[in-house]
Amino acid sequence: MKKQTILSLSVAAALVISGGLAIAQSAGSGVSSLRGSSVADLDQPLNLYQQDEGRFARAYRQQPPLIPHGIDNYQIDTNANRCLACHDWTNAAERHAPTLSMTHYQDRDGNQMDRISGTRWFCTQCHVPQANAPELVENIFNPSSGN
Ligand code: HEC
Ligand code: HEC
Repeated sequence: MKKQTILSLSVAAALVISGGLAIAQSAGSGVSSLRGSSVADLDQPLNLYQQDEGRFARAYRQQPPLIPHGIDNYQIDTNANRCLACHDWTNAAERHAPTLSMTHYQDRDGNQMDRISGTRWFCTQCHVPQANAPELVENIFNPSSGN
């Protein structure tokens, strides 16, 4: 009697488990991952947008020009600024790089200085590397001279 109960219990358990598996399997084929691929398939890597060669035109007159080269290993912190090794007026000609414009040597009171202004120290606040990538949010901006 005791044995029979255990047996029927385990049969019932097996039925529940196999039923559960069947449900899980049918759900699995219909569920897609956050990246849109089926969970059963190999994950697709995201599109990577490489740096575009050549300079992009500015989209509007006052735009900080986009950076036409990689900046991966260029350190910028409170003590060091690698960008200045090429772009400061003292090095630019030798490095064949465009010199920082004069606005970068003007302090907040409008004084012209020989050293870069503290307000322009962290270049990547304003300048970003360029890539021909789709916009992250829809953008219908038109420069004033564009229309
Ligand atoms: C090894 C030298 C070197 C370093 C370091 C360097 N640049 Fe440049 N950069 C150049 C050269 C050369 C060009 C011009 C490239 C061209 O015309 O295609 C340039 C172009 C640019 C331009 C485009 C200017 C324009 O008028 O279109 C920007 C902006 C810029 N760099 C920002 C930066 C920033 C920010 C850093 C640091 C994160 C940096 N660069 C570090 C050499 C350098
Ligand atoms: C507060 C924003 C800001 C910061 C910070 C900044 N820039 Fe700029 N940069 C601009 C703007 C805006 C322009 C275009 C108008 C102008 O020349 O002032 C520009 C122009 C330039 C140009 C083009 C100059 C020319 O005459 O074609 C270069 C090169 C450049 N920046 C490099 C740098 C580097 C390197 C740093 C960091 C040391 C830096 N900028 C920091 C806003 C900024």
